[in-house]
Amino acid sequence: MAPQQVCVVGAGVSGLSTAVSIQQELSSKVVVSIVADKFSPETTSDGSGGFWGPHLVNPDQADDINKWGNETFDYIFDLFRSEHGGDVGAQLISGYCFSNSAIPFVDKCIGVRNLTKEESNIHPDTKNGQTLTTVMIDVKAYLPWLMKKFQANGGIVLKRKISSLDELSPYYDVIVNCTGLGAHYLLDDHDLRPVRGQVFRVRAPWIKHFYVDIDESNPENEIYILPGAREVVLGGTSQVGDWNTQVDSADRDLIWNGCCKLLPSLKKAEVLEEWVGLRPQRTRIRVELDRKHTGREGNAAIVHNYGHGGSGVTLHWGCAQEATRLVVRALKNAIPKSNL
Ligand SMILES: Cc1cc2nc3c(=O)[nH]c(=O)nc-3n(C[C@H](O)[C@H](O)[C@H](O)COP(=O)(O)OP(=O)(O)OC[C@H]3O[C@@H](n4cnc5c(N)ncnc54)[C@H](O)[C@@H]3O)c2cc1C
Ligand SMILES: *[C@@H]1O[C@H](CO)[C@@H](O)[C@H](O)[C@H]1NC(C)=O
Ligand SMILES: *[C@@H]1O[C@H](CO)[C@@H](O)[C@H](O)[C@H]1NC(C)=O
Ligand SMILES: *[C@@H]1O[C@H](CO)[C@@H](O)[C@H](O)[C@H]1NC(C)=O
Repeated sequence: MAPQQVCVVGAGVSGLSTAVSIQQELSSKVVVSIVADKFSPETTSDGSGGFWGPHLVNPDQADDINKWGNETFDYIFDLFRSEHGGDVGAQLISGYCFSNSAIPFVDKCIGVRNLTKEESNIHPDTKNGQTLTTVMIDVKAYLPWLMKKFQANGGIVLKRKISSLDELSPYYDVIVNCTGLGAHYLLDDHDLRPVRGQVFRVRAPWIKHFYVDIDESNPENEIYILPGAREVVLGGTSQVGDWNTQVDSADRDLIWNGCCKLLPSLKKAEVLEEWVGLRPQRTRIRVELDRKHTGREGNAAIVHNYGHGGSGVTLHWGCAQEATRLVVRALKNAIPKSNL
C-alpha cells in the first residue's frame, strides 16, 4: 500500500517535534512534509530561553499542563543524559525563584524547597521564594538537530507561506497546524493573541544558576536570568496584546537595570543580542482534531497544535505525542487519496 501523506505546517519547536514524533510512530507507513515560511533561526522558538517551567498558562488547563509538562521534562532530562546532550545544549540547572507566594507547576522539578535565610539574602531586597533544579535546552541548537533527524528519516521540507488550507488539502491525508501566532490569521482565531517578550542575550560564563524574580504586583515585568549552554538570557517583558516586534528602549532599561540590580556582575557582561518575540497565547492551548475536518469526508483531516504561549518549549514533546495520537486516529478514518 502506498504511504499516506502527512503535512505539518510550521517549523518552530511545535512543528519540528510533531513531525519527528509522527515519523517515529508510523515510520514507513507515512511520508511527512513540513511546510513553513520561516525556519530556524528565524522562528519565535529560536529566541526562547529554552527553560523548563510552565509560564503564563491557564490554571483551568492544569491537567494537560501537568501531563505534557511531565513528559517533556522527562524527554529533556533523557536527552541531557544521552550522548546527544551536548549537541542540543540540554542541561540540568539549579537556581532561585524569588516570590511571595508558592510557585505553581514545580512538582516535576528536583529538590524543590523554600529558600533559607542566606539564600533570601541573594536578593538585594531580601525576598522569600524557592530553590529547585529543572532542565533547559539550547533551542538554537535543538531545532537544527530536529531538522536533521527529520530529513534523515525521509521528511520533505517546503518553504512557503500558506494563506488557506485549500492550498494543501488536495495533497495530504492529514494536515497538522503548528503555526503558532500565525493561526491568528490562518484560522481567524481571535482567541489567539501575542504576549510580547523582550530579552538580552549576553556572554557571562561565570553565572551558573538561574534567577527568576516574580513581582506579583506587576506580572508584565518579571526579571529573569537564564544561563543556557552558550549564552545567558536576561528578561523580560510579558506584554499582552502588544504586536510590536521592535526593541523598545524603555523595556531595555527596565530589564538591564533589573538584572544588574539582582546580579551586579552582569554590568560587565558582553551583550550579544537584543531580541523581541511574540508568544502565541490562547485561553487554552489547542491540541485537538478539528471537528469539521476529521478525514471522514474525503478531505484532509486537520489536527491542531498551537497556542502554547510562554510554555512552548516546556510542553513541546508532550504536545507532539498527543498530536501524533490524533494523527494516527485521523489516518485510520481517512479515505485514501488514491481511491478518490
Ligand atoms: C522572550 C521569550 C522567551 C521565551 N522563553 C521560553 C522559555 O524559556 N521556555 C518555554 O517553554 N517557552 C518560552 N517562550 C515561548 C516559546 O518561545 C513559544 O511558546 C514557542 O516558541 C511556540 O512555538 P511554535 O512552534 O508553536 O511557534 P513558532 O516558533 O512561532 O513557529 C511557528 C511556525 O509556523 C510557521 N507559520 C506560521 N504561519 C504560517 C503560514 N501562514 N504559512 C506557513 N508557515 C507559517 C512559521 O513560519 C514558523 O515556522 C518564550 C517566548 C519569548 C517571546
Ligand atoms: C507529574 O509529575 C509529578 C511529580 O512526579 C507528579 O506528582 C504528578 O502526579 C504528575 N502529573 C501527571 C499528570 O502526570
Ligand atoms: C514555605 O514557604 C511558604 C510561604 O512562602 C509557607 O506557606 C510554607 O509553609 C513553607 N514550607 C515549608 C516546608 O517551610
Ligand atoms: C488550520 O485549520 C483551520 C481550520 O480550523 C484552517 O482554516 C486553516 O487553514 C488551517 N491552517 C493550515 C495551515 O492548515
